[in-house]
Amino acid sequence: MSEPVIRAMAPEDVPAVARIEKESFTLPWSAEAFRTELAHNRFARYSVLEQDGQIIGYCGMWVIADEAHVTNIAVREPFRGRGLGERLMRRLMEEARSLGARRMTLEVRVSNTRAQRLYRKLGFVSCGVRPGYYTDNMEDALIMWADLPPEPAALSDPSREPASGHDGTGASGEG
Ligand SMILES: CC(C)(COP(=O)(O)OP(=O)(O)OC[C@H]1O[C@@H](n2cnc3c(N)ncnc32)[C@H](O)[C@@H]1OP(=O)(O)O)[C@@H](O)C(=O)NCCC(=O)NCCS
Repeated sequence: MSEPVIRAMAPEDVPAVARIEKESFTLPWSAEAFRTELAHNRFARYSVLEQDGQIIGYCGMWVIADEAHVTNIAVREPFRGRGLGERLMRRLMEEARSLGARRMTLEVRVSNTRAQRLYRKLGFVSCGVRPGYYTDNMEDALIMWADLPPEPAALSDPSREPASGHDGTGASGEG
């Protein structure tokens, strides 16, 4: 098995991405929603994590002025717990910073402690709650923010980053 690489999401990736989205979330975005983002949202940036020709994760954000808003992030279930979600988030933060963002925000279910732990590890702090944000069970969303350091070196983790690949949640997604 080769090392997973992160690259920009292409329209051809959408069916695989939508499958992972459906497996991962109770309120998944549709394939059409991803296609619309890729084709029409000039603020949107989406990346996939690919290993041996298979999409095993993805993430996305909107970058507007100096703020980045994570729309979604997921890793296929069998591949979780291996540092890949962290790699995706670090890449997202690095790309946001390179596009001029100084802060990054996301919403996360209050019950999703696994994702919260990842975000806290990367410097996010919770700054409030959106009550009843998730319409399936009216669960609250925690609003988290992180400052993006000006130096890219502060975000990269050389032990986990492959040399190749493209450099480069909220938004009603679950990220
Ligand atoms: C959240 C998600 C993207 C994390 O990806 P991952 O590849 O499993 O995470 P990583 O292996 O990179 O772990 C990074 C950090 O996340 C946290 N984490 C990961 N798995 C965890 C677990 N089972 N329990 C608690 N914390 C966990 C830890 O802080 C971990 O760092 P550490 O290993 O140094 O302790 C993944 O679990 C996922 O796709 N979940 C379903 C979709 C989802 O909830 N997305 C977020 C929506 S807001």
